[in-house]
Amino acid sequence: MKARVIGAAAGGGFPQWNSNAVACNRARRADPAAPARTQVSLAVSADGAHWFLLNASPDLRQQIEATPALQPHQGLRSSPIAGVVLTGADVDAIAGLLTLRARQPLTVSATSKVLAALAANPIFDVLAADVVKREALWLDRPQVLRLPDGTPSGLTVESFAVPGKVPLYLERAGEDPPIVLGEETVGVSIADARSRLFFIPGCAAMTASLSQRLQGADLVLFDGTLWRDDEMIRAGLGSKSGRRMGHMSLTGPEGTLAAFDALAVKRKILVHINNSNPVLLADSSERAELEAAGWEVAYDGMSLSL
Ligand code: MLT
Ligand code: MN
Repeated sequence: MKARVIGAAAGGGFPQWNSNAVACNRARRADPAAPARTQVSLAVSADGAHWFLLNASPDLRQQIEATPALQPHQGLRSSPIAGVVLTGADVDAIAGLLTLRARQPLTVSATSKVLAALAANPIFDVLAADVVKREALWLDRPQVLRLPDGTPSGLTVESFAVPGKVPLYLERAGEDPPIVLGEETVGVSIADARSRLFFIPGCAAMTASLSQRLQGADLVLFDGTLWRDDEMIRAGLGSKSGRRMGHMSLTGPEGTLAAFDALAVKRKILVHINNSNPVLLADSSERAELEAAGWEVAYDGMSLSL
């Protein structure tokens, strides 16, 4: 299997359009210790010719132009992108579907809850139903990912519920949404005949079943939104904690570093990294601490061989 991180940042990207914070300005100035990152998405392929995207970020057009393997190379109109697998219905996971309009055959796979969110937004009907299939992902069941002509791609996907919340635009005004374990937010494992990776860009808490699932895994790409639960509040960037946004934080007794300590995961890589997270800065003490704990920070263009 081939995998390529085509975007590594959380919603908003790095720099975020309206952030005048020091780190975002370092990224804007092309500081080599603060490389810019687009919003998270992973491209995976069994054969190097046909690719599936894990989430379709608002930056997808830019990501395709930065990734030759995802560009057309047959006839006048074509795409190596055979499908998109969605882990939720957040804006940063689905807005890129709108880039994929123009009558290109592909399949969008998502849980029935996420498909319902797409169906409730008629703008996604630009993906014409006669060329773009929408396929249900059933939790805890391996499913073959097929090319648009129905041929098996050599990859299977299995989705599983992780703690999360409804997308921001489906929250009810004035109410904190509950953290739920269901079809709202999933992680996926992608496998070919020889290898397997996990992609979990949003996760509000480590559960016993998730830690069991990840035990001994070769490669996990995991929610790296925040370093501290209250970092956006402390920095004056917003009023929400990580928990309120449906993301566990890296540090703290219930944090990601502690949660992975006992899991014998061979390669651990952070994705969905918020622009407030100091691990984005190669010269931060937090980055050093993270790396000492055996973690890597994903970057745009990071190629993973499995
Ligand atoms: C999140 O990961 O919390 C969401 O992407 C936030 C958002 O939709 O802006
Ligand atoms: Mn997000």
